[in-house]
Amino acid sequence: MKVLVLGSGGREHCLAWKISKSDLVKEVFVAPGNPGIAGIANCIDIEIGKKNFDKLSDFAEKQSIDLTIVGPEAPLVDGIVDHFNQKNLKIFGPEREAAMIEGSKVFTKDLTQKYDIPSANGKIFVKGEYDRAKKYLNDLPDSEYPKVLKADGLAAGKGVLIAKTRSEAILSLDTILVENKFGAAGDKVIIEDFLEGFEASILCLCDGENILPMDLAQDYKRIYDGDKGKNTGGMGSYSPVPMIGKKILEKILENIIYPTYNALKREGIRYKGILYGGLMISNGNPYLLEYNCRFGDPETQAVLPRLEDDIVPLLIDCANGNLKASKLNWSKNRSVCVITASKGYPESSSKGDIISGLDKVDTEKTLLFHAGTKKVDGNFATNGGRVLGLVTTATSFKKARSILYSEIKKIKFNGIQYRKDIALRVEEEKWAI
Ligand SMILES: Nc1ncnc2c1ncn2[C@@H]1O[C@H](COP(=O)(O)OP(=O)(O)O)[C@@H](O)[C@H]1O
Ligand SMILES: [Mg+2]
Repeated sequence: MKVLVLGSGGREHCLAWKISKSDLVKEVFVAPGNPGIAGIANCIDIEIGKKNFDKLSDFAEKQSIDLTIVGPEAPLVDGIVDHFNQKNLKIFGPEREAAMIEGSKVFTKDLTQKYDIPSANGKIFVKGEYDRAKKYLNDLPDSEYPKVLKADGLAAGKGVLIAKTRSEAILSLDTILVENKFGAAGDKVIIEDFLEGFEASILCLCDGENILPMDLAQDYKRIYDGDKGKNTGGMGSYSPVPMIGKKILEKILENIIYPTYNALKREGIRYKGILYGGLMISNGNPYLLEYNCRFGDPETQAVLPRLEDDIVPLLIDCANGNLKASKLNWSKNRSVCVITASKGYPESSSKGDIISGLDKVDTEKTLLFHAGTKKVDGNFATNGGRVLGLVTTATSFKKARSILYSEIKKIKFNGIQYRKDIALRVEEEKWAI
């Protein structure tokens, strides 16, 4: 078989790595990929924006690609799956209409409210309702704050603003509805309750009819240790999540994931691909924060190394609408993923800083996934915010952390930043239930 992966980050490197281990697969192509991915797959020089959908489908046709897998959300929301389907090309991911679950937070909030799926209580305002939204915030008692303001559309993980006070909330409202910081993605806004607790992500394989959850992961969005500083694309992750025992998992599935899947069906949407639930566990009860319509980055890098099954038949079956597996096999091992970011990230990012020490990393113990890298005169160099991800899988989080953090020290580039506390909170697994 020939498989094509679309994207250029650590998630796609990990997908290409897992896919290339399949006995069914002869060749893996990645568009556009990155220099790290080029070490394990054929990178194709085609960007994956909407204007290139024809180029991508032409490539898939000419190369007789058997399956295409879409990494990031934007092409899914732009309808790449519909485009490939029209040309009878097999592709893993939701169609445009189904990808709305990530493409519009208002769509999802409406769905959760209509079908009683636990999520933060929220109100929706459209652009013309600025005065009404402001009055709503002004009339709320002080005790109702903090509030969370969310731009409706895709905003590269930057469209959620947490307002501790009324005045911050009004500034956030202005940012979204008046200053148009998120463009058309901010034509609608959700103002919702702030939920306390801990977060986790659940990625589920979907074939349009059936749904098969994967083991959970937790990611770290903030740039600095102790969850301080600005939000990023994700600075690390670990899997599984020991705080989520059987009881909470059952609530996640029975109260959130399955009802959502049924709600989508009732709305006439057959969801295929990955349904990714972003959850907040508050006093033992899970709430939905958001859905994503694709593999998470960097959750994928922590989850897939623990999956003992060949992923390729699972992806094909989902794309065919015929998922046969009813159970996945997981390693008991724990995995930890730490991202190294470039100087200035997330406000800015540096490019062209030479990376050294990659050849010293013990790849028997630690996987190395490239994200923002490029080749300069034969050397790897930084090329964006998140540069590399290291993943170690071991019999305990403590061991995995110890190996990973000694390996990561071998990697050097100007201004390197990484968090030292990834999976620290689960090191003793004292919350296991
Ligand atoms: N209702 C909420 N209460 C508390 N924190 C929230 C809430 N909604 C979102 N957040 C925080 O903001 C982050 C981003 O929100 P999310 O809905 O996942 O949007 P996106 O990933 O598109 O930026 C979450 O990971 C969480 O930390
Ligand atoms: Mg999120």
